[in-house]
Amino acid sequence: MSSNGNFTPPKTVVLVGLMGAGKTCIGKKLAHTLQLPFVDADVEIEKAAGCTISEIFEEHGESYFRDRERMVIQRLLDGPVQILSTGGGAFMDERTRSTITEKGISLWLKADLDILVERTSRRNHRPLLRNGNHREILSRLIEARYPVYEQADITTQSEEGSADLTTRNALKGLKDFCGRS
Ligand code: S3P
Repeated sequence: MSSNGNFTPPKTVVLVGLMGAGKTCIGKKLAHTLQLPFVDADVEIEKAAGCTISEIFEEHGESYFRDRERMVIQRLLDGPVQILSTGGGAFMDERTRSTITEKGISLWLKADLDILVERTSRRNHRPLLRNGNHREILSRLIEARYPVYEQADITTQSEEGSADLTTRNALKGLKDFCGRS
């Protein structure tokens, strides 16, 4: 038996959740376990635009970025089954969310505020966190976004300090969801 237990999800698994929740890290581990390709929507947006997300925000504004993000995610969801990590705002966009709902399996990586603050403090490349206190901004985003992230097909708690445990829990959530859907 292969290490993925011969389990392949029927659709692309889309990781959603706030900045710092660990979508890229857990997404890569999940992809490795399931022997599927991993793709990061933010990286694909940067490749397509030929510049960084910060530059897109600075030069064109957020709504332009959301349009690019929607197009890239749509394109990726039309491709083969894979593990797709999305930026924290992607699932908040109604049209992007409905594409994800239709064509993918959404998995919300839910993390506590302290974890998000700690993880986002390591780098300063995120435009939404540039102008202000990370804790304040992230707690406002939790209030605004968690009720929407809750609509994801699967919720997995992002555990502090153990990416392997979080990955195992994500895999279990995914298998349970696929078993009953
Ligand atoms: C954003 C999150 C970022 C990136 C952009 C906007 C958001 O991705 O897409 O800076 O609106 O939460 P990560 O969640 O991967 O940091």
